[in-house]
Amino acid sequence: MPTGIDEDLFPNTPEASAHPANRLPLFPEFTDDEEALFTAADEVRRQEYGTDVYVRGLIEFTSFCRNNCYYCGIRRDDRELTRYRLTKDDIMRCAAEGYDLGYRTFVLQGGEDPFFTDDMICDIVSAICEGYPDCAVTLSIGEREHESYQRYYDAGARRYLLRHETASDEHYHILHPAELSPEHRKRCLYDLKGIGYQIGAGFMVGSLAQTPEYLLEDLRFLQELKPDMIGIGPYLTHHATPFKDCCNGSMAMTLRMIAILRLMFPYALIPATTALGTIHPKGREYGLCAGANVVMPNLSPTGVRKLYALYENKICTGELSSECRGCIARRAESSGYRIVVDKGDVRPH
Ligand code: SAM
Ligand code: FES
Repeated sequence: MPTGIDEDLFPNTPEASAHPANRLPLFPEFTDDEEALFTAADEVRRQEYGTDVYVRGLIEFTSFCRNNCYYCGIRRDDRELTRYRLTKDDIMRCAAEGYDLGYRTFVLQGGEDPFFTDDMICDIVSAICEGYPDCAVTLSIGEREHESYQRYYDAGARRYLLRHETASDEHYHILHPAELSPEHRKRCLYDLKGIGYQIGAGFMVGSLAQTPEYLLEDLRFLQELKPDMIGIGPYLTHHATPFKDCCNGSMAMTLRMIAILRLMFPYALIPATTALGTIHPKGREYGLCAGANVVMPNLSPTGVRKLYALYENKICTGELSSECRGCIARRAESSGYRIVVDKGDVRPH
C-alpha cells in the first residue's frame, strides 16, 4: 500500500528506531528529578504500547465559532479574523490524501459552528466511514445535545475529543464568559461516554490563574471520568484575545503533567500536541519521551491552515500534509519510537 513516505529517508522499522544514532539525547535541558519522572513514564508507556506511536490526521474544517473563550484565537468576537469552512468535497479530499499517507484515524475538528447541522455532520461522517471502513472517525466539534451525539455515533463516529479545559468551576469561569458552563461541558463528556464513544478530555497547562490545586482537581476529575484519551498542551497567547498579555504555559510543566498522566493512566492515548511543538522545536519529541503515544499531524488544505490559529506561531501552517507526515515519522524515530499504520484504539481498561 502506498504510504507517500520516502522510506529511504524515513526508515520506519523497529531496527531503525532502536539504533542509538536515531535516539535523541535524553532530556538535556531538564533536572534530574524531571528526567527520572519522564523515564518512569516512558517505561510504563513501553509496557503498554511498546514503541508504537499512533497518528491521527487532523482536519480543521471550520474556523467559525459561536463561543468566546477568553484564550482562544478563533473566538466569536475576533471580527478581523478571516473565517473559512471546508465543503464535504474538501473534507473527502483530505481523507483520501490522508489514507494514502497511512492515516487510519481522521479527526474532524472545528469551532462550534451551527452552520454544520446534525444532518451535515452525519453525512460527512458516514461518507468517510463508507469510503474508509478500516478507519476511525473522531469528532471534536464542541458541546452539542445528547441527541446529536447519538446521531453522529449512529452515523459511524466512534471517538470524541472534548477537553474539559479545567475541572475547577472557579477556574472555568476565569477562562470563559458566563454563558459557558463547566457543568454542561462535563455533562457532555458523560453523555458521550454513555453513548459508547471513546472519549478524550484534557486541559491547557499554564492558563491564566492555574494553580497546582487546580491541576490536582483536573487529575481527580480524570480519575473519575476515566477517559480513553487525554490531550494536554501549554497555553499559548494570541494577540486578539482578552488574554493577549498572559504568559505562555511552560514546556517543562506540560511534560511533567504528561508523565504524571501516563503513570496514573497507563492505558491512555496521550498526544504530543501541536502546542507542545510550537512552544519548543523538540516539544513533541520530548512529549513522546515523557509518556505520550499519539501525534496529530495536520491534514487540512495548506491554504486554510494559517486561518485556524488558536494561538501565535502555530507550527505546520505552511507545510503540505505529506511533509507533515514525513516530518512526524522522522521526529518519532529520532526519539526511539515508530509510527504505525493502525486505527490505534485504546487498550481495554
Ligand atoms: N470547538 C471544539 C471544542 O471546544 O472542543 C474544538 C476546537 S477547540 C479550539 C480545541 C482546543 O484548543 C480547546 O479545547 C483548547 O484547549 C485549545 N486551545 C484554544 N486556545 C488555545 C490557546 N490559546 N493555547 C493553547 N490551546 C488552546
Ligand atoms: Fe508538520 Fe513537522 S509535523 S512540519
